[in-house]
Amino acid sequence: MVYLDNNATTALDPAVADKMAAFLREHFGNPSSLYPIGRQGKEMLNEAREHVARALGATKSEVYFTGSGTESDNHAILGVLDALPDKREFVTSAIEHPAVQETARYLEKKGYNVATLPVDKTGLVDLDALRDALTPQTALVSIMFANNEIGTIQPMAEIVRIAKDKGVLVHTDAVQAFGKIAFSADALGVDLLSVSSHKIYGPKGVGALYVRRGTPLLPFLHGGHQERGLRAGTENTVGIAGFGEAARILPEKFPHDKPRIDALAERLRTGIREAIPKVHFNGHSEQRVKSTLSCSFLGLESEAVLLALATKEIYVSTGSACSENSDEVSHVLLAIGLKPEIARSTVRLSLGRFNTDADIDLVLKELPDIIGKLRKISAFDPEDID
Ligand SMILES: Cc1ncc(COP(=O)(O)O)c(C=O)c1O
Repeated sequence: MVYLDNNATTALDPAVADKMAAFLREHFGNPSSLYPIGRQGKEMLNEAREHVARALGATKSEVYFTGSGTESDNHAILGVLDALPDKREFVTSAIEHPAVQETARYLEKKGYNVATLPVDKTGLVDLDALRDALTPQTALVSIMFANNEIGTIQPMAEIVRIAKDKGVLVHTDAVQAFGKIAFSADALGVDLLSVSSHKIYGPKGVGALYVRRGTPLLPFLHGGHQERGLRAGTENTVGIAGFGEAARILPEKFPHDKPRIDALAERLRTGIREAIPKVHFNGHSEQRVKSTLSCSFLGLESEAVLLALATKEIYVSTGSACSENSDEVSHVLLAIGLKPEIARSTVRLSLGRFNTDADIDLVLKELPDIIGKLRKISAFDPEDID
């Protein structure tokens, strides 16, 4: 199998699986219990928080565990707006993940004013539009760090500077940036930052929210005193143990993984460009997570390409649907100005830690053939599309 859908989720690192197994089988205690197996859980939470904090460039007291990247995004946005009831405006971008986009829609229904900033054709947010959107009523700006579909990286430090000039708080969804680009939450200057374990070779169903000390934020889930009262509910000890381990090994692996994965992605990109006519690569040419390739195979439907590749055990995703079950054209691809028929021809190949040269060899062997055959039987004529 060649797995090229690492932006959707990653395989567990074996070290993560080992750590989780111990908590699954033996260390089952409730971290709130005072006897030894409970204390083991509490110690693990402490260590995991330390590892996530170090990987994020934060202090331990600024890291809160959540149930997913989605929950981190929801909590950051709704928790800040709840804490600032006099401010009724929220600013976000046109290319956010649904975890932010749908939260913005919910806010609109609640009567908030939501400003959605446009992006250029490379996916960069219009900073003049950001300056214009900020008012004394703005509670929060939420702009994603790296885009999940096209990989474009926003100039977060600049965004923070613009918002801070107006005294506005900043949240960033860093789910696709964590583990892929080097950053420090502290140095970046953001107030809140969301990450998810399953994008960094940890388990699904665990996330974290970085909250800079002093940021106004109310709880999202109400109940017990877990996570210092900010996120009630008995902790997912197995998941957090895995997330902690994934974060522990991240700084060790990153300096080797990143250049290797980037080089593989570049070889794949060049190979596709050389072997296949009428391919369009989306996203910024430089300010981009290099391991994310968004390719439009003009004249084809992305599902056909995905299914044909799957018969060769090569797994990619369509870049054109919000989710695999949706017929909707991707809001990200439309926001960068692609025509719907080109958006529908878009496939995302996302590389990760476990990809090898042999994987790229296989894709470069199979893909040109698949595209050629599909174009022969396709009703579209790629010559008609520029
Ligand atoms: C940019 C971005 N934000 C948020 C999420 C949601 O994270 P989770 O799957 O942990 O809810 C994802 C996952 O696809 C993502 O890519």
